[in-house]
Amino acid sequence: MSFFDNWYRGDATLKAEPDEELVKLFNEKGDGKVLDIGCGRGRNSLYLASLGYDVIAVDVSKHAIIQLDQNAKLLGYDIEGIVCDIGDYSFTEKYDIIVISNVLQFILKRVEQINIIYKVMEYITTNGTIFIKHPLTILDLESQCLRNGMLNRFFTHSEFNWEILLDVNKLAGRKKDCELNIFIAKKS
Ligand SMILES: C[S@@+](CC[C@H](N)C(=O)[O-])C[C@H]1O[C@@H](n2cnc3c(N)ncnc32)[C@H](O)[C@@H]1O
Repeated sequence: MSFFDNWYRGDATLKAEPDEELVKLFNEKGDGKVLDIGCGRGRNSLYLASLGYDVIAVDVSKHAIIQLDQNAKLLGYDIEGIVCDIGDYSFTEKYDIIVISNVLQFILKRVEQINIIYKVMEYITTNGTIFIKHPLTILDLESQCLRNGMLNRFFTHSEFNWEILLDVNKLAGRKKDCELNIFIAKKS
């Protein structure tokens, strides 16, 4: 059993609320397409589905997707859950919202992290929003964390035009020993 399948063994109950910055930005009915990358049990997918969005949720863990499916069924939402490593996901259509929350630190190679960022920049609609939350400091995973300001540099130097809606760092974790960057960009 893989690391992440082991993580999601057992209780499927959704214990966590959606990301507060996502809720602040999207809190009215919507009907666009959403891609939630590394969705886990689906706290953000389920929230956006509750607003009316058409959600595709991708996770490398089969158990995460089983739990997402169970939670979606329970709440009556129709979410397409896909078991797939995001590096192998075939992007064929554009999305209005792409969420990557607490995932990039698990993509072990820097070049793969950057490929994903470039992919989502390409596959977001004009006026679409990319939401990324990622740690800048996790002691045991430090080498896989993107450096502070890196996302901002990728977006400001990209071939597309972006409005940076949010780029803030905050302390997280039980001991407040992890710094997270919350980065939201809209394609213009
Ligand atoms: C900390 S959890 C975050 C889950 C969810 N995004 C959230 O914020 O609640 C990280 C998730 O990323 C998934 N993941 C890690 N590497 C992945 C990859 N290469 N492709 C797709 N999902 C991946 C894991 O299976 C896990 O569900």
